[in-house]
Amino acid sequence: MKVLVTGATGFLGKYIINELTEYGYNVVAFGRNEEIGKNLEKNKKVIFFKGDFTDNEKLSEAIKNVSGIIHAGGLSTVWGKWQDFYNANVKSTENILKLCREYSIKKLVFISSPSIYAGDKNQLNVKEEDAPNENNLNFYIKSKIEAEKKIREYNDIPSVILRPRGLFGIEDTSVIPRLLHLNKTKGIPIFGKGEQYIDVTCVENVALAVRLALENENAIGQVYNITNDEPMMFKDVLELFFRKTGIKGKYVKRNYFLAKFLVSIIEKIYLIAGIDKEPPFTKYTLYLMRYSQTLCIEKAKKELGYKPKMTVVEGVKKYVEHNRRN
Ligand SMILES: NC(=O)c1ccc[n+]([C@@H]2O[C@H](COP(=O)([O-])OP(=O)(O)OC[C@H]3O[C@@H](n4cnc5c(N)ncnc54)[C@H](OP(=O)(O)O)[C@@H]3O)[C@@H](O)[C@H]2O)c1
Repeated sequence: MKVLVTGATGFLGKYIINELTEYGYNVVAFGRNEEIGKNLEKNKKVIFFKGDFTDNEKLSEAIKNVSGIIHAGGLSTVWGKWQDFYNANVKSTENILKLCREYSIKKLVFISSPSIYAGDKNQLNVKEEDAPNENNLNFYIKSKIEAEKKIREYNDIPSVILRPRGLFGIEDTSVIPRLLHLNKTKGIPIFGKGEQYIDVTCVENVALAVRLALENENAIGQVYNITNDEPMMFKDVLELFFRKTGIKGKYVKRNYFLAKFLVSIIEKIYLIAGIDKEPPFTKYTLYLMRYSQTLCIEKAKKELGYKPKMTVVEGVKKYVEHNRRN
């Protein structure tokens, strides 16, 4: 089977390609970064296709001759213009859905995000059906909700939605670099005792879930939370990472209500002044650090046969050893 992977040049995309080609799939790797794309072709089962997925003609060319699509590409950050999020996350999804119809694609797997659950409260064991219909905490979240709505609207397309939480691994572009940067500069803010429970996920486990969603006929029309199924306290996750790297964790105790007040003013100023650069802190990152959020993955375990193949400790160890060597 030949599968198109969007976001192939990104963090998750490369792991999806490894997982799929290991299991005999041929991959059309879609992305804009030619250098990374050419590198992907060292794997003989991969053909790189350079393109922007808001460009329908390019996408249409790439989709010819594939029978499955993994839409893992997108604009994945906490700040930016609505139009950019709309184009990269909503319009691209609709373009792909239309082409799925035109080319009778057998399965589309869409990578959404559990950030759509985020809010000003603790949330334990969140189930897929707990997702709100609207959440305007930031444009990224809004765009993922809109993209999911598009998937449901095109209900003749055999599609599956995955919501993987807090990805980390080698070449991570988001979670670990952000924490390291904070640790090096202002310190990592701790609200309360840092005893909030969170879920993180080894990127290898997400790639596994993607393959299972692609292969499982019963997954059509379904949504699945994906985590490592190892909820941990925020501070324990940090300590585990810092212990293995030998870095000393720099924590700063913060008052939540004061932080919330300041962040809402900062966000307003950035919005009114049209500043594209990400503010030093956003409401979303504040909620992420202040509240517990764990996801129930019983549905993925039961229906997809998903069982994480790497533990958090193994994932951290692999990351640290790789960074030590390079
Ligand atoms: N990282 C997480 O913790 C996390 C958690 C939940 C969900 N997700 C979701 O998982 C997916 C992958 O995330 P990631 O961490 O791998 O992100 P990433 O490293 O930032 O990669 C994003 C990918 O999307 C591609 N892309 C963006 N706009 C494009 C466009 N207009 N045309 C073609 N390609 C475009 C990029 O291509 P180029 O680099 O070639 O431009 C890149 O390959 C995203 O949908 C994200 O929302 C991530």
